[in-house]
Amino acid sequence: MCATDPTAGAAIEVTGLTRVFGRGEARIAGADDITLSIPAGQSVAVTGRSGSGKSTLLHLLGAIERADAGTVLVDGDDITALRRKRLTAYRRSVGFVFQRFHLLPALTVLDNVLAPVLPRRAAYDKHERARELLRAVGLEGRENAHPGQLSGGQQQRVALARALIGTPRLLLADEPTGALDSATGAAVMDLIIRLGREHGTTVLIATHEEAVAEGCDRRLRMQDGRVIADVGNRDDTA
Ligand SMILES: Nc1ncnc2c1ncn2[C@@H]1O[C@H](COP(=O)(O)OP(=O)(O)OP(=O)(O)O)[C@@H](O)[C@H]1O
Ligand SMILES: [Mg+2]
Repeated sequence: MCATDPTAGAAIEVTGLTRVFGRGEARIAGADDITLSIPAGQSVAVTGRSGSGKSTLLHLLGAIERADAGTVLVDGDDITALRRKRLTAYRRSVGFVFQRFHLLPALTVLDNVLAPVLPRRAAYDKHERARELLRAVGLEGRENAHPGQLSGGQQQRVALARALIGTPRLLLADEPTGALDSATGAAVMDLIIRLGREHGTTVLIATHEEAVAEGCDRRLRMQDGRVIADVGNRDDTA
């Protein structure tokens, strides 16, 4: 599908990024002075134990969590400094995939994919793109099914199509295979990476699974809110 899609991924520059939860004795840095640079179109696995800060980093990059210090430049714009209207626009430009698919059970598969763009006037034009995306994730013919009629892997593929409907420059996936068996999870991962590459989308995937991390261009390992290892999986990256 849309191999000629002109979308380019976002280039990301993170400097001194810090997010602190709690106070006093209970004070925990979810992100502790993180500095890193992600070139447009790169796929990055974010690994590390539970509580190491993977979700916090993704939430900060998606601007669904506020930073206490530091900057996040996305194609040169500091998203930590955005005011409400532009913040909303920025969040809309990011695709999110979560461990639990968060599909709306009352809507059909097609309407779930369209949900992020439905309130907008151009949504009608998005129907064809939604169908194309469902084809790309292997769900052609299931447009009118409801999420409850699908397997976990199929639901996650719907969530992926939904995350891509707005043609995001940045795709953030937080343990997208965590609720799936390993074979289904691997298929969903392959799709995320393949579709990301086809569109030139920058992709960050938080994961516990080594096999998932190996499929990405680069891996970041986190511990206590810091990036403690940063390695390229391929010679030409990172
Ligand atoms: N809203 C919050 N309030 C208080 N502490 C939080 C909050 N969100 C995250 N934390 C803390 O920040 C640290 C990093 O959490 P985070 O969710 O980013 O970890 P994670 O690597 O995604 O873990 P997991 O693998 O379990 O999803 C943890 O110690 C966590 O308890
Ligand atoms: Mg997490």
